[in-house]
Amino acid sequence: MPAPWWSRAVFYQVYPRSFRDSDGDGVGDLDGVTSRLDYLQQLGVDAIWLNPVMVSPMVDHGYDVADARDVDALFGGLGALDRLIEAAHGRGIKITMDLVPNHTSSHHPWFQAALRAGPGSDERDRYIFRDGTGPDGGRPPNNWLSIFGGPAWTRVVEPDGEPGQWYLHLFDAEQPDLNWDNPEVFEDLEKTLRFWLDRGVDGFRIDVAHGMAKPPGLPDMRLAKAEMVLANMDDDPRFNNDGVHEIHRQIRRVFDDYAHAVAIGEVWVYDNEQFSRYVRPDELHLGFNFRLLRTRFDAGGIREAIENSMAAADLVDATATWTLSNHDVDRTPTRYGGGHLGLSRALAMTLVMLALPGAVFVYNGEELGLPNVDLPDEALRDPIWERSGRTLRGRDACRVPMPWEGDAPPFGFSANPQTWLPIPPEWAALTAEKQRDDPDSTLSFYRRAIDMRRSRPQFGGRSVQWLASPDDCLAFRRDGGLKCVLNASRVAIPLPDGELLLASAPLVDGDLPPDAAAWLV
Ligand code: GLC
Repeated sequence: MPAPWWSRAVFYQVYPRSFRDSDGDGVGDLDGVTSRLDYLQQLGVDAIWLNPVMVSPMVDHGYDVADARDVDALFGGLGALDRLIEAAHGRGIKITMDLVPNHTSSHHPWFQAALRAGPGSDERDRYIFRDGTGPDGGRPPNNWLSIFGGPAWTRVVEPDGEPGQWYLHLFDAEQPDLNWDNPEVFEDLEKTLRFWLDRGVDGFRIDVAHGMAKPPGLPDMRLAKAEMVLANMDDDPRFNNDGVHEIHRQIRRVFDDYAHAVAIGEVWVYDNEQFSRYVRPDELHLGFNFRLLRTRFDAGGIREAIENSMAAADLVDATATWTLSNHDVDRTPTRYGGGHLGLSRALAMTLVMLALPGAVFVYNGEELGLPNVDLPDEALRDPIWERSGRTLRGRDACRVPMPWEGDAPPFGFSANPQTWLPIPPEWAALTAEKQRDDPDSTLSFYRRAIDMRRSRPQFGGRSVQWLASPDDCLAFRRDGGLKCVLNASRVAIPLPDGELLLASAPLVDGDLPPDAAAWLV
């Protein structure tokens, strides 16, 4: 059987609010994505992952879904998605969407009905309502914290006007968690999956795929972990409960009716054996392994992240996945130290990532070398800012709209100068237009690297062999013959024998400088 298309694909993550605005409201939309498919085709990506575009009050920018079987008017409605699918498929690019099964919006008709119906009703049983503790039930049912800060429980006012039960929300209070023990919840998700897959969607990135099942009795969590925003550890009762695997099996049975489609889970689980369970043959096809993304620019740590990610996939003969950034974390140049140093390291890590076997995920703007943006308080839109009592700034800094062309904001992103997050004037130097014809730009580097990865036989095979390398460096070889060398040390190093295919920085007297990587064959 030939390997499935996704097994070595380069996925390009589009954050639709920030990619391109076609209608001048200052927020990106799906026709905006369609208008830039040439760019994505030239970049060489195989598939797009769209962050959520379903109907939503947009409290968490679409991760609060009020109608899972329609596209929000903000993004252009269903027609705009159909146009994107058709145009992308015409260019051989697949379209995958985000699916949010752990929670809905508080505006979802189910949640509204649950509020009206009162305690003990079937409507309430679709969510996780509990009586409070303490005098008059005035304290939450347990001590769980929301990932966005503050308690994970909110008390409702009952139909009789009195304070009453509490409902669980692992994220914002506008994102009530569904009760996956209620069969109606899966029945509805199945309708949603079939709705989109029948429309031609090529798969889903499944949000919080380690979160849907809750432990019996909802035991307290250890509060030492309170500050770990989106980085819950393996012993956190809010996530990674055994029951989640039966849910994935149910979901997989639907996917099995659509042989072309891929299910990719967002799995913030670090233990290899625990992680591997999510990608068993009857569960998800792919799971995001975040080890590489969480590693500092340190050769030992990077090697360990690669070995563990591959070991976790190998345990169940699954495909490894690699990603350095997404809409929830600091952008790579910023994470690796900022400025020229940060960008050099980010490009070096790009070569490491693209040299590895498996599926790769690139976040929009990564290919332009965009850093985080320091936004003023009044510009912040992420619910984390308010929920944390304005102590955590949230994720807006990595979600600033793409600079396309011209010399001043909004750089062709929108016809409207009031973009949903402001674009800094310094990005004049980073526009796609400026980088397109500059052979030394970050964009040209990404294009070359992705093209080589796709077209050269040296990238074949499923394993890597580690090669000897100087201190604070790493070197590995693919079965097909590609060698990748990373220099995380402070001195230039000689390259191994072979023809140089690509380097992330110019060689110095034939040597690889610090904070750089190279490919050889
Ligand atoms: C996931 C998403 C994040 C979102 C959260 C709640 O972690 O990546 O952006 O806020 O789920 O849906």
